[in-house]
Amino acid sequence: MNFEQVDRVRPLLWQDNHLSVLDQRELPHRQNHLICRTSSQVAEAIHVLAVRGAPAIGIAGAFGVVLAAHAVQADSGADALRAIDSELMALEQARPTAVNLRWAVQRMRSLLQGMGSDWREGILRAAQDIQSEDLAANHRMGRLGAELLPEGARVLTHCNTGSLATAGFGTALGVIRAGIANGRIAKVYASETRPWLQGSRLTIWELLQDGIPATLIVDSASAYLMQQGLVDAVIVGADRICANGDVANKIGTYAHALAAKAHGVKVMVVAPGSTIDMATASGAGIAIEQRPGTELTHIGGAEIGAKAAEVYNPVFDITPAACIDFLVTEKGVITAPDAAKMAAFFGPLSSR
Ligand code: MRU
Repeated sequence: MNFEQVDRVRPLLWQDNHLSVLDQRELPHRQNHLICRTSSQVAEAIHVLAVRGAPAIGIAGAFGVVLAAHAVQADSGADALRAIDSELMALEQARPTAVNLRWAVQRMRSLLQGMGSDWREGILRAAQDIQSEDLAANHRMGRLGAELLPEGARVLTHCNTGSLATAGFGTALGVIRAGIANGRIAKVYASETRPWLQGSRLTIWELLQDGIPATLIVDSASAYLMQQGLVDAVIVGADRICANGDVANKIGTYAHALAAKAHGVKVMVVAPGSTIDMATASGAGIAIEQRPGTELTHIGGAEIGAKAAEVYNPVFDITPAACIDFLVTEKGVITAPDAAKMAAFFGPLSSR
């Protein structure tokens, strides 16, 4: 399988001494790059969704640590870490739900703590490792997930879980790329993903870049498609997966999963180890990000419909483990995940 031919988009590039971020707020109309030279610029890029998607914000966070550390004079990694501690706290709080951001900043913290006089090169290499490990994990998950699909599969995906949301290739969209490359997938449906439109703006654009045709649907059409027998599998990513297998992902994922259960359609969640949170027992313990009501009341800066008195805009939901048929990670596939299987794969609760 030649992955390069079906994977051309990259959201984050480290260039000389700055991080270049493909601004996802402007896609698909403009390919504009934000230049981040400080960790607070990286935190802002994450907060405003210029870079989004759980693994991508983890990688951006890791480079944010590099920028913070490189701005200080210090003889050792531990000295540098002391000087940047408050910046790192702000960085890891730029968004609350995806655990990858906190995971990446913590990993960078503990590596920096142990570094000696060559910490400047070391900390950059550590961020680059997080990026390249993510790409390798996506290739592996792509192969594993595609093997689970029936021949001629018709699949539905939600949000954007592709190259734009990761180091490259994608998680759920990586499985779809691999399934297209090996001829397993015959049809891709992408739901538009209200309100931020990650599906219609990002997934459709990204697949077009790679010559993969996809059919756009409104989020609420998925149950109808399944009722018509048009979907064999729902394939989604995750922002956090708890010790009992509950999955936090883009708002609307739970509705797709419930419809899938009602119609005997398989649900596949695809996520790397950096998305696993064994310290959180169940989905009830996950902070769900709330975003401004203007995401619902405005489109492209224009107000639509009547002025809403009140808007409630949770941007993630929790899909209970019982709704999930396959959890695909780079370590392997868990069928019908539950607390015991998660512990066997990732270690017991709170041990990470
Ligand atoms: O708000 P977003 O666009 O960052 O939400 C992204 C998602 O929910 C993705 O499905 C998830 O992060 C997995 S991306 C590989």
